[in-house]
Amino acid sequence: MRDDKEFTQLWHDNATGMWARWLTGDYKRALEIGSFEGASAIWLLDLFPKLKVTCVDTFSPGFDDVTGEYEQRFDRNVEEYGNRVTKLKGKSQDILKTFSKRSKFDLIYIDADHTYEAVLEDLKLSYPLLKKGGLMILDDYDNKDFGVKQAVDEFLKDIDVQVLRERNDYQMAFIKL
Ligand SMILES: C[S@@+](CC[C@H](N)C(=O)[O-])C[C@H]1O[C@@H](n2cnc3c(N)ncnc32)[C@H](O)[C@@H]1O
Repeated sequence: MRDDKEFTQLWHDNATGMWARWLTGDYKRALEIGSFEGASAIWLLDLFPKLKVTCVDTFSPGFDDVTGEYEQRFDRNVEEYGNRVTKLKGKSQDILKTFSKRSKFDLIYIDADHTYEAVLEDLKLSYPLLKKGGLMILDDYDNKDFGVKQAVDEFLKDIDVQVLRERNDYQMAFIKL
């Protein structure tokens, strides 16, 4: 976690060990669904100097946030990366529908609305945007407060992927085969 940035939450700190083991490719384009103050996106941008990240977030003040100003903190935090960051403001379920089917990402991180319905919709809309061999990561898979596991398990039922999981961790990832 960069201590020169404005972060009020340290959620992504718990994931960096796993991410360092999972992210073995040469990633050029990433899609992040749920960016908050930019912590996870910045971690990726620093690790992969050629990476460009598209960040989708409602930046809605209703979200769990101490000051309600996380959009401004996101803007300030990612400013140094210039055109390596594309910010798309709105509900992912609306924004993802506007992407061209030809638009492809090496890496997709889903960390937005954690309800079963929203995660399932995010998966359905973003999976076609993932390249073959690309990596999809989801947060809070094992968190019983949310519907992530139900949505992921249902979505993956008929899809051939290589699941990457580590014991007793909230995150899960899979590679598109
Ligand atoms: C847990 S935070 C993301 C944290 C970030 N990935 C990190 O690790 O630093 C979840 C974010 O998802 C956003 N969000 C919630 N529902 C959303 C939706 N339907 N579409 C887009 N963004 C959403 C919230 O505004 C919030 O910023």
